[in-house]
Order: sequence, then structure tokens, then C-alpha cells
Amino acid sequence: MKGYSQRVMAMQSSPIRRLQPYALQAVAEGVKVLYGNIGQPDISTPVAFAEGVVNFIKNPQASDPLAYGPSEGLPAFKEAFAAYLRRNGIDISAEQVFATSGASEALLLVLMALCDPGDEIIIPEPFYTNYRTFCAMAGVTVVPITLDWDSGFGFPSIEAFEKAITIRTRAILNCSPNNPTGSMFTRLQMKQLLELCVAKNLYLISDEVYREFVYDQEPFSVMQLPQSATHAVMIDSLSKRYSACGARIGMIVSKNLELLQQILKMSQARLCPPTLEQMAAIPLIERSDQDIIHMREIYRSRVKVLCDGLGSIEGVSCHRPKGAFYTMAKLPVDDTDKFAQYMVSSVRLEGKTLLVAPGGGFYLSPGYGQDEVRMAAVMDEESLSVAVKILAKALKSYKG
Ligand SMILES: Cc1ncc(COP(=O)(O)O)c(C=O)c1O
Repeated sequence: MKGYSQRVMAMQSSPIRRLQPYALQAVAEGVKVLYGNIGQPDISTPVAFAEGVVNFIKNPQASDPLAYGPSEGLPAFKEAFAAYLRRNGIDISAEQVFATSGASEALLLVLMALCDPGDEIIIPEPFYTNYRTFCAMAGVTVVPITLDWDSGFGFPSIEAFEKAITIRTRAILNCSPNNPTGSMFTRLQMKQLLELCVAKNLYLISDEVYREFVYDQEPFSVMQLPQSATHAVMIDSLSKRYSACGARIGMIVSKNLELLQQILKMSQARLCPPTLEQMAAIPLIERSDQDIIHMREIYRSRVKVLCDGLGSIEGVSCHRPKGAFYTMAKLPVDDTDKFAQYMVSSVRLEGKTLLVAPGGGFYLSPGYGQDEVRMAAVMDEESLSVAVKILAKALKSYKG
């Protein structure tokens, strides 16, 4: 038997999912696991989506057979999404929207369209750990810029980005509001970053899947900047905004139609994004603006409960998220990989345990994040309080 590719052999398993077998073992023992490790919202998907599914199925002319759609997405879906962006002050037309199977596919397609193997992408770290896998799939080298814990993972400096640019750099990839830190770059900082990209002829890939979940400022998109026409690409998704992760619908948004034409060539080979989910997403997008605001307020309250709770544990610190629903917490242990495994395997409180994501997997630079964990506020406030108690109990008993 032949071996496997160097590409796949060099990849890591997702640090977010790696401890899942230990959680399954706890479940088999009858323990309820609180999943603080993964960004899977527990809030119900707005009912407009289910109605959209039923209406589509009830219309056999549209749904039977359940056919392939256009590779760039169904026109009606693209128009609904562009209209939602315009309602939110982001001036985009349907032809500037390209539908994908989740933001995950959007990221991979954009990397594949912009980079040759060996090219470099600059990403502030800690970063969404799957970026690493997408870059590995595209043969792209990640050049990290390590953000400072003391500044709450704030904007480093434009010089830090400038210093990281080499002859192989093709783009800067930034996620704001951020997973895993909950930090945000301001409009001015994003403007500076885009200006740098224009000056150096790079792309700014702006991952905005958490755009509306912001707590101190108005939602903001790179597409609102005057220089976004040529060098900006926005990555978006229905997953978090509508609590619809399983729908697997994402979007590439760019005013650079030539870039979208290049992406189309690859997309034609994978045929199309899901037809049923796009159709059901149309009423979802048209009718759920209030649901998004409602969800934001739920998350606002939850991240406060989570961070207040974490802050009350001796030796634990975290930064209150400015957006999204994650926080990185610093723990008084030297290896959160071992600690997280210990907690989910051995610590029980009222028949419950807690799974968190060890911090090291969100950094590329070796040695960083070893005393950090990422926690997601994707459970109700009572469960978050129990989660904090489980963490406190685990820290007390941990002998690592
Ligand atoms: C920052 C970020 N980008 C992209 C994704 C992928 O989203 P999707 O479910 O649309 O593939 C996630 C999912 O957690 C994410 O947190």
C-alpha cells in the first residue's frame, strides 16, 4: 500500500475536536457534557428557515427533482443576501455575492484563487484554527503576527504588518469580531490595513462571520471602506448569524468581479452550493433581522456571565469580548491540553463535566497559548455558571 501525501501528513487534527473522544466516554458514563469547546450555537434557528424548507418542498415545480443550481449560487439567494447587506449599510449588488458551502469553502476557494504553493498569508494569532488547515490544503504558508495578551489581543501596529510582508505575501487574513479572542479591530485600523494592502498590492481577506455580534460599537464591514473595490474580499456565513451551522451556506463578497470569475472556474468543478438550503435561506434572510438583534443581546449577557465567572476564580483571567461569543482564558496551569483532558475525563459536578478548547491550537508560533483555553458562550447562563464552577473545581484538584 502506498503512503499518504506529505500535505495531509503535515496537517494537525482540529484542536477544537481532538478531545471529543474523551467527551464521548463521559457521555457513555451517563455524564452531561457542557461543550464550551466549539462554536455551535444552542439558540434555535429562526422559524423562517423551516418554513422556507416546507414551502420549497411543497412546490414540486421548484423542488422535484432537487436540482443543481448555478455554481455561484441561486440568483434569488444572492439578491436576498445583497439586500440584507444593503439594509445594513453595506452597498453590494447580487453579482458581487458568490454562494459557497459555508465560510469554510469560501476561505479555501479564495486562498486557492489568490495563492500559488509557497505563497504567504499574514494572519494575526491566535486565529481560528481551521485557517491553518485551509492554508495547508492550498499549499500556503501562514505568517503569524502574535497579538499581545495585555492589550486584549488588540491591533498590533501597521508596522508589524508591514514588517511581515515578503515577496511571497499575497494577502492579510483577519477575523473581526474575532474567533477565538472576542477582540475587534476598529474601522480606522481596518482602513489602515486596507490602505497597506492597496499600497503593497495585497488582498485583505476579512472574515466577518460574527459581524453583527458586537457589544461596544456598530457592526462594521471592510466593504464599507472606500478602497474596498479592488483589494478586499469579505467572507461571510449563515452559520452563526442565524444559528444555522448545519445549513452549510457561506458567501464570498467582493467588488472585484475578476476575482469572482477566477473563483467560478474552481466552483464549477464542485457544481453548486446546496440548493434546498439556499432556497430556505431566502425567507430566513428576509425576515430575521430582529432575531439577529435578539441573539446579540443573549450573547452580550452570556459573555458577561462567563467572564465575570472566570474572573472570580483565583489565578484565572480573561478579556471581556467586544464581539463574537468566545473568550481566551489564562489558567494557572502549564499545559491546557493535559488539563482539558483531565477535566472532561475526571471532574464531575452535579453529573456534569466541561469540555474546553486548549489554547495552543489557535497559535502557530510554538510555545504560545499553553496556559490558555478558548471558551464559547454557546449555552444558557445557568449552564455557563455551572461550567465556571466545574473549571474552578478542576483547577483545585488538578495535580499537573
Ligand atoms: C472565524 C470563522 N470563520 C469561518 C468559520 C466557518 O464557518 P462555516 O460554518 O460557514 O463554514 C467559522 C466557524 O466556526 C469561524 O469561526
